[in-house]
Parts: sequence; C-alpha cells; structure tokens
Amino acid sequence: MTTDAAILNALRQFPGAGVSGAALSAQLGISRAAIWARIEELRRLGYEIDASPHSGYRLIAVPDALHGDDLLTRLRQPRVVGREIHVFRETTSTNDVVERMARDGLAEGVVVFAESQTRGRGRLSRRWVSSAGKGLWLSVLLRPRLQPLGATRITIAAATSLVRAVRRVVGLETEIKWPNDVLVRGRKIAGILTELAAEVDSIKHLVLGMGVNANQSASDFPAELKGLATSLRLEAGAAVDRPALAAAILEELELDYSRICDGRFDEVAAEWEQGCSTLGRPVRIQVGDRIVQGRAEALDPEGALLVRTHHGNLERVLGGDVTVLK
Ligand code: BTN
Repeated sequence: MTTDAAILNALRQFPGAGVSGAALSAQLGISRAAIWARIEELRRLGYEIDASPHSGYRLIAVPDALHGDDLLTRLRQPRVVGREIHVFRETTSTNDVVERMARDGLAEGVVVFAESQTRGRGRLSRRWVSSAGKGLWLSVLLRPRLQPLGATRITIAAATSLVRAVRRVVGLETEIKWPNDVLVRGRKIAGILTELAAEVDSIKHLVLGMGVNANQSASDFPAELKGLATSLRLEAGAAVDRPALAAAILEELELDYSRICDGRFDEVAAEWEQGCSTLGRPVRIQVGDRIVQGRAEALDPEGALLVRTHHGNLERVLGGDVTVLK
C-alpha cells in the first residue's frame, strides 16, 4: 500500500474523531513533516482534509475523481481483482492498456481506469462514447483456467457484479440483456467488452472491459444514442458517487470471479437468470451472417444462450447482436 493509500485508510477508519499527525507518523513510520506533505498533496487532488490541534486530521470530503490509492483503500483485501489499480486521465482504450500489460506478463487482477478514452470501443467494433469524468471506463486483466468458450462466463459474471454494485451504491434495479448489456427501463447504462488471447484449449489471458454511464446528462450522449442509452444519474435523479461505485464493482467482481474459479459458476448463472430480461422473450440474434430467431429459453453451463427456434430446435448461441422482439 502506498503512503497516500495508508493515510486515506487511517482517516477512513476514524471518520468522526480524526487521527493525530503523531499517530499517523508512528503507524506509517515516516516523519510528521512527511505526513503533512502528503496531506497537502491529497488536498491538491481535491480531498478535503481538516487539520486541528485537538482532533488531528479528519477526512471531510473526497473529490469526484478516480484516484488509484483511494480506490485501493476502499477495497477489503482483494485476493485478485484490484490488487493493483492504475488511473489514467486520458487513454485510447483501457482494454488496449491492459492488453499491453498482459503481454508484459503482469499478474491477473490489475485494473486500469481512465477518466476519458479517445478510442473507447464496444462490441462488434462499435465506438464507445466515454465522456470525460462522467462515467466509469475500466478494464481488468484476468487469467482464468478456462477453455476459450468459457470466456462467456466472465462476461456473465461482470453483468451480475454490475447489477449488485449499482443496487448497493445507487439503489437502482437494473436488468441484464444477454450477454453484455445492463439496462434501466430498457435503456443501456453499462456495457461489457471481453477480449481474450487463447490457445486452442485454454485462455492465456482475458481483458474484461466495462463501461458504466454514471453522471452524464442527456446532452452528453450523441444523437444516435438518444432513446437507447441513459445514465445512472438521469435514472436515479441524483449524482452518483463514482469512486464508491468503482470500488463496489471491483468487490462484486472479485466475489463472482472467485465463484467461477472455485467451480461455482452455477451460482452466478442462477443469479444472472434472475436478473436477465432476455429470457422468456422472443429474440432475433445476428451471429455473423446468420440470424437465429426464436424464444430465449435458458443459459447453458458455459454461459451460452439457448434459443428455441420456430422449428422447435434448441440453438446454442455464444455471442451476437440481440434484438428483443415485441
Ligand atoms: C458494449 O456494450 O459494446 C461494450 C462496451 C465496453 C466499453 C468499455 S469502456 C472500458 C473498456 N475500454 C474500451 O475501449 N471498451 C471498454
């Protein structure tokens, strides 16, 4: 843990009472002057920290900005997801940054956030609009021991994690549209882009990208997304605490990833089926050049969608562009 993370951690543990400079200095093994310098730096980053001779340092408010050290202190001892967190002010695509880290051999669990992306992308090579400071644009490096087809499990887990995190922090109920969209009242608030490098029978590494529309107002969305996309702020009627939501997403993902690694994907799938608005509905799915049309019946153990076609056959679909029919 960095010094800044340790200071924020200590201040969070005693929100009302405050922590003295002497106590921080003893705890961190650095001088009081060094503590003061770090407090000044945190203030410069927008943390409101009160200092008084009686109560010491007290954390009053945190900025609406992502800060790696701050996020680290919010996580309860991550085993994998969020062991290392990087925040970029701007990048092309967080998926690209994490892909490079994966090729450089970094351990799984590293997370990259960007406040803005100049070339954010969605599935099927679509552009992903990543307004600066308004959403959560993040990618996670994972190295699951799965066959390449099992990657869908990770996408499923990301969706259930997003649903729980939004419920916990924002208090909104969301619905999942298979396989990778999270919606509120039929409009998209989050998308998931899973990219992988694999051998024939095993995943080498996987980059899990998630984009969450948090605090956009209607004018932040381009015309072509009107009616299709929305933000949590627009739906909840209040600004979203982005750092709190970011930490909650990582915590929930840690839980679901461990369920997958421990052979308990069935628990994730059961939760996903509960939250999925696609099941039981008539769908049309574009899979490459092929169209699969029928009723979405269930999820199979790999996370594929089972579609009952008009001929009565059960088709197994691993990915594609889904339209839920009226
Ligand atoms: C989709 O719904 O099509 C998936 C959208 C995924 C967007 C996220 S934002 C962070 C990460 N970096 C990217 O370039 N894309 C993903």
